[in-house]
Amino acid sequence: MIPIMCGAEQGGMVRKTWIRTLPLAAFILGLTACGADTSHVEIGSVPAGKLPVPKWQASNAMGGVAELAPGQDGWAGWWGVDQGWSADQRRAFWFTPQGSWMVPYGWLLAVEQANNQERFLAPANMERLGYIPAQKDIWNPEALPIGFTVTPGAKGPDGKPGMAWAGPNCAACHTNRLDYGGKSLIIDGAPSLGDFYRLNAELLDALLVTSEQKDKFDRFVTQLVAKGFIPADTPAARNELLGQMAEHQIWLAEYLRRNLCGSHQSKECPVDAKPGVSTYDAYEAKNTALKANLRIQTLEARARQDAIIRDNYVPLPGNGRIDAIGAIFNQVSGYNIAVPEANYSPSNAPVSYPFLWGAPQSDVVQWNGFAQNTSVLGIGVGPLGRNTGEVLGVYGRIRVTPNDPSKYTVSDGSFEDVPGKDPRFGFASTVLTMNLGHIENWLSSLRSPRWPDGVLPAIDKEKAARGAQIYNGKQDEKVNCSLCHQVIARKDEGEPYKATLIQTSVIGTDPAMADNFLLRLNKETGLEWESGKLEGKRPNLVEFWAKPYGTTLPDRGEALVVQVAGVLLSDFSNTISAGRLSKTYTGSFDKGADPRSYKARPLTGIWATAPYLHNGSVPTLADLLTDEKRRPTSFHVGSRQFDPVKVGYQTEPEPGRETYEFDTGFPGNFNTGHTGRLYGTELGDDDKLALIEYLKTL
Ligand code: HEC
Ligand code: HEC
Repeated sequence: MIPIMCGAEQGGMVRKTWIRTLPLAAFILGLTACGADTSHVEIGSVPAGKLPVPKWQASNAMGGVAELAPGQDGWAGWWGVDQGWSADQRRAFWFTPQGSWMVPYGWLLAVEQANNQERFLAPANMERLGYIPAQKDIWNPEALPIGFTVTPGAKGPDGKPGMAWAGPNCAACHTNRLDYGGKSLIIDGAPSLGDFYRLNAELLDALLVTSEQKDKFDRFVTQLVAKGFIPADTPAARNELLGQMAEHQIWLAEYLRRNLCGSHQSKECPVDAKPGVSTYDAYEAKNTALKANLRIQTLEARARQDAIIRDNYVPLPGNGRIDAIGAIFNQVSGYNIAVPEANYSPSNAPVSYPFLWGAPQSDVVQWNGFAQNTSVLGIGVGPLGRNTGEVLGVYGRIRVTPNDPSKYTVSDGSFEDVPGKDPRFGFASTVLTMNLGHIENWLSSLRSPRWPDGVLPAIDKEKAARGAQIYNGKQDEKVNCSLCHQVIARKDEGEPYKATLIQTSVIGTDPAMADNFLLRLNKETGLEWESGKLEGKRPNLVEFWAKPYGTTLPDRGEALVVQVAGVLLSDFSNTISAGRLSKTYTGSFDKGADPRSYKARPLTGIWATAPYLHNGSVPTLADLLTDEKRRPTSFHVGSRQFDPVKVGYQTEPEPGRETYEFDTGFPGNFNTGHTGRLYGTELGDDDKLALIEYLKTL
């Protein structure tokens, strides 16, 4: 039997757990009438460690296309569809850090690629990995790609800032560039086409080779000295650096290993800390071998084999996807609370990066709608808590202090640890709470991109008008998209709305993400989740009347909520101010939706967000309007070349770019569901074209 929760009642508990604490914490925090400076964001790439928040500039040219940055130094010019943000606001969004410690900033600037002498950050390499190389400016003095940011080093006892860390922010996953007819369009809030795991694996490989090869290491040290990250090239400095690199390599490899392979110590996992072996290719080869043995053609047979395949096959996320929830749970309920093996579980449900316009206005967010956009006393605890959870899952560090420290080896303050003393309440972390408040605030004014006639072939208005009739069930009442996907007029984009949750059994799309979220037991071991450092702590930290945890946790959501609450409690004044900046949905909430559901959201700006469905298993809108049995089963994701007819990206491999070969035959990758008359897949070709024409206008 699959150890997952069934039915609305139990699932409702999970949902409640997530939101229970945060309002409560906000209430307690709200009683302390304090506030922090909200005029700056913290940013570690500039000497002052902060930059003023750009002024909001209302834009009159909404929907227009303008040049964002002229081409120079061999760069193609950038174009932007106006989405309500000034050029300055866009840059602030791209480069404001969230507290992710992925790699020391200096190392990222200095390290070469594993198998050549080019910088890892070289624009061509970033393009190859699906990230967007960006020009230098005050927000980005070292020309990191969009979404790569620098968290300031914490000040030491001598008042000097410690080592700055580089890592992604929201824009690494939620900003995209689309290419068509020689023009590049930047679209904020659109799903990135980057391959996050390949980036991680190649960074790990690059660092491994650097610490093993003398000439590479020499050049690395020279660069670090030249850029002022190491005072001088001495034997002692080299030794310290090598020690730090060894520590960090294990840490990076560990991230990949737990997410790709789960908890089985004995199970062979090709994420080895061996220099010169491409971690990513090794993993891909393992999956290819498995596929050759396990490929099964019919849906029924596939369902029967599901458990066997699942145990062995973890689809690589590839371009434009990660299993965010899986990775967050492995982090908060495994690594952070010192239950490294027992609580790990493979991240086998990679999902597309959702688009962000309209997210702050929605009642619930995440593909399965588990996070409510709640606020309490004007403090946006819903989004602030959600974003804090995201940082913890994406290289944010937290020091969870156990009730009984004797059970855990006390850290001697290695360079990976969260610096500073334990706070009076909650847990010390690297999360930049105030920056999160600003980012969420900016997102509330982000608008969907309008189809740019002129850059892309113009929309046929007559055809689109006919498509609107079909969409709204006026041509055939049995085809009615608006039953689930509410249409939001452009002028109302800032208004709150309710998303529609549809049970996975009804919608029929791949259930892995929704199922994994509700796992009550570790599927690999069949055992309950261990509580580790949370043993003896009370749920949500602030519920002093609640029963403390014993040796196990009811579900992994508990570990997430306790840590999010711990981060927010640790820094009252910033949390309150950041919470006030975080704009939220303001209407009423539905109670009792089945948690095993996916969210049908308004399709505003949907043209710019391929591939489609929560797991990105359908490359274009035209393919989504095709019966599940006739959708493409194998296609490449990663090209930026836009296809304005089918509406999506080209699905062929592309020179100079790594693409992910999507195979829809395996759990996590299924392209089933959202099929049948109601969903438009039985319409005639002309009607489908009209419907697509209308979807372009949304
Ligand atoms: C490493 C990639 C990554 C980063 C960094 C990241 N996200 Fe996401 N985000 C995701 C993925 C993947 C999901 C979908 C997860 C799911 O629901 O299973 C998501 C979901 C969301 C959602 C829910 C959207 C909806 O409509 O349901 C919001 C809002 C969001 N992210 C905002 C942010 C913000 C704000 C930041 C930065 C503070 C951020 N994200 C950073 C990958 C990322
Ligand atoms: C019964 C409710 C329902 C109806 C009717 C419906 N959809 Fe959906 N739709 C959903 C759900 C739920 C999802 C999310 C499924 C998932 O991601 O697994 C979805 C996803 C989508 C997506 C992909 C969104 C994304 O971000 O990738 C598109 C596009 C879409 N629907 C278009 C349509 C169109 C066009 C119609 C009408 C012909 C339609 N839908 C009818 C429920 C519905």
